[in-house]
Parts: sequence; structure tokens; C-alpha cells
Amino acid sequence: MKKDLIDIRDYSMEEINELIALAGRIIKNPEAYADVCRGKKLATLFYEASTRTRLSFEAAMLDLGGSILGFSEATSSSAAKGESVADTAKTVQCFADIIAMRHPKEGAPQVAANKVNIPVINAGDGGHNHPTQTLTDLLTIHMEKGRLDTLTVGCCGDLKFGRTVHSLIAAMSRYENVRFVLISPEELVIPEHVRTEILDNHNVPYKELRSLDAAMPELDILYMTRVQRERFFNEADYVRLKDSYILAPDKLFSAKPDLAILHPLPRVNEISVAVDDDPRACYFKQVAYGKFIRMALIMKLLGVSI
Ligand code: CP
Repeated sequence: MKKDLIDIRDYSMEEINELIALAGRIIKNPEAYADVCRGKKLATLFYEASTRTRLSFEAAMLDLGGSILGFSEATSSSAAKGESVADTAKTVQCFADIIAMRHPKEGAPQVAANKVNIPVINAGDGGHNHPTQTLTDLLTIHMEKGRLDTLTVGCCGDLKFGRTVHSLIAAMSRYENVRFVLISPEELVIPEHVRTEILDNHNVPYKELRSLDAAMPELDILYMTRVQRERFFNEADYVRLKDSYILAPDKLFSAKPDLAILHPLPRVNEISVAVDDDPRACYFKQVAYGKFIRMALIMKLLGVSI
């Protein structure tokens, strides 16, 4: 039976740990994997803008020896003529072995997965989920900290619309001794379903703060996020909230020396470029790790190995 990746919670911890271990082996010896997907094709169906996710999927498939096809905006596909996601997916399965789909509507990749017999990967659906970003985040934390347990994880910014935060909390809350510090304006707190279904129902320790300064000294991981302009109904609210948190070098005086600063990117101005030179800034390394975990995921879903 084919396997998809729609929600990170569909994968067991064992499966996630296997992917992280495979990505680690690929990082150490990429030449050994350069041909494992020869003859296979990845279709990237992106109905919404992307730089990192689409290009890292494409680089991942190319580095595995496979080929790529697809579109990078809905207007250049027959979606512009009114074609449904289901019909598009059924068409694309005639040409490709695996699909990575980003869509502004929550649930669209699941609709595609239900209609085709090739694996479908959710590359971000609305404000819902972004499971391959979460795999990237987990690999980054594992590479930087050497573990995924016993960590205090601060999530800062737009916790309401930030789908990467929702997926990260779902994934990290399964590891032992992980606690969360959720830092956001009142208007952008985590959605109720994340609070109840993931945190409260599983007795995961967390606290909610408005001040990044107050949270900083206890954090092992600081996961900064952009205020998601494209999800706001009202521009005035976006303008009022967009600069709620700006991480600048002076904010890091009270941080742990081995803090790891992550950001799914793109950033707007929530991390000053002056922070990029701080050895604790991991967000461009995180981009690089994203390709390796996607290589591991493509291999798993296509059932190929060395
Ligand atoms: N992190 C992320 O999803 O970036 P893109 O929107 O550029 O793909």
C-alpha cells in the first residue's frame, strides 16, 4: 500500500527517527545516494509561493538521480481554468512517481492523496500543516543539539497562523522532557485545537508569555516565526502586529551560550540581519538540512535504498 505524508502525526516516532538517521547518512556520504532514484520523477505542484520548499524538493530529487516536473503557481496550471485538485492529481500521476503539493486551502493535499495511487507529500496547506518543514526542524535540532528530548523550546511570533509551529509542537511533544514556552501577542496565540488536542490532552508542559526577554534565559531552542500577512483578513491588524518581536543581538545577552535559533524562513524583519553572524543562528543551516531530509523522505516513499 502506498504511503503519503500529509500530517506529521501520521508518522510514528520510529519512522521519524529512521528518516533523521537516513538523512544523517546521506549528509555523511551523498555520493552513495546519487543514483538511487534514476528513472523516477517528482512532480512539484505549488499553488502558493515558495522558495525553500519547492527548490529543496527539486534539488533533493536531482541529487538522488531522479527528474522533476511541475508548476510553481496556480496561474500557470489549468487550475486557472477551474480544474479541481483531484483532477490535476489524477492527471499528474500519469507522468510522475511522487507528488509534492503546496496549496493555500487546508486539506488539498489530502484530497489529492485520496485520488491517486502514487505518494503525495503535503508541502504546506493553508494555516494547517507543513510536515516536511517539521522534519527539517527536527533534523536541525538533532544535528545541533545531539538530541530531541530534554529541551525547552520557545516558539515566538505568529503562533495562530504559523503552520510550521503547529506541526513542530505536534512532533516535539512526543519526545521525553520537552517543554514549550509560547511567546506571542494575545491576538496570535496558538489555536485552541493545538492547545487542547496536542498539549493539554497529552500533559505536555507549556507556558504562554507575551515577552521574549522574559523567556530567553531558559530556552534551548528559539523558533522564530514571521507574522503571516497572507492569512490576515485585515491589513491594519497585520501592520499593528508585524513588529511585535524583533530579535536583535542585544536580546541575546541573556540567552544560553548553546541556544539554537531556528526560523522556517522567509523572514521579514523579525530577526535582525546582525544576528546572522551569531554562532547560535542556525536558520540557514536549517535550509541546507531541508534538502537532506527531503531526500530521505523521497527514498522512503518510493521504497528505494542503497
Ligand atoms: N519554510 C518555507 O516553507 O519556505 P518557503 O515558503 O520559501 O517554501
